[in-house]
Amino acid sequence: MPDKSTPHIVPNGAPIADTILLPGDPLRAKFVAETYLDDAVQFNSVRNALGFTGTYRGREVSVMGTGMGIPSISLYSWELIHVFGCTNLIRIGSCGSMRKDLDLYDIVVAQAASTDSNFLAQYNLPGTFAPTASFRLLDAFHSQAKQQGVTPRFGNVLSSDVFYGADRTAIDRWAGMGVLAVEMETAGLYAVAAHAGVDALGVFTVSDNLVTGEKTSPEKRRTSFTRMMELALPLAGA
Ligand code: HPA
Repeated sequence: MPDKSTPHIVPNGAPIADTILLPGDPLRAKFVAETYLDDAVQFNSVRNALGFTGTYRGREVSVMGTGMGIPSISLYSWELIHVFGCTNLIRIGSCGSMRKDLDLYDIVVAQAASTDSNFLAQYNLPGTFAPTASFRLLDAFHSQAKQQGVTPRFGNVLSSDVFYGADRTAIDRWAGMGVLAVEMETAGLYAVAAHAGVDALGVFTVSDNLVTGEKTSPEKRRTSFTRMMELALPLAGA
């Protein structure tokens, strides 16, 4: 049988694990592979969406950069699920805090992901779909956090199509509904996973605070999000 491939993922026979960690930044995928995985092999380089498979504490796990935004993560996650058989998809990203009491480097878990994107319209539902985390992965992440003495914030995030928004009051209105933070992918990931009947989770490290204006540097973002990675990696095979 010829090796499986898609327009965006060409593994040339390299394996892709059931569990895959999905950072937005492909260099963060490389960092995870180099820092944490044993016997890592690269399974993708198309468009520099670098992907690797190796083992973490003896369990096979993959990691791949998805790029930014719902169109990008949704096409990669669709192919990973429907062509390569991934069943546990865990986004490890950054987010902008909408609250004073959610600081740089705090960890946020998307119990749900609200969105201003039109992506969900394709499902033609007679109402509003609520993109939701897999409880199994959320529960496993919660247990890891307890074991490792970390206290993440669980709640609703906003997956926005807009980074430089024209309407500066929009964030205040989402925050007024209790939404914790903004990022740009998870509602798409949750919808693709729900439609396929597989498990997905989005976890983030706060890289900037939209209320106070504090920010981390791109270099620090790449290398300092290790706590989130160390909480997500043990979910392989969970
Ligand atoms: N907006 C959207 N996505 C983000 C942000 C932000 O402020 N910070 C990190 N990811």
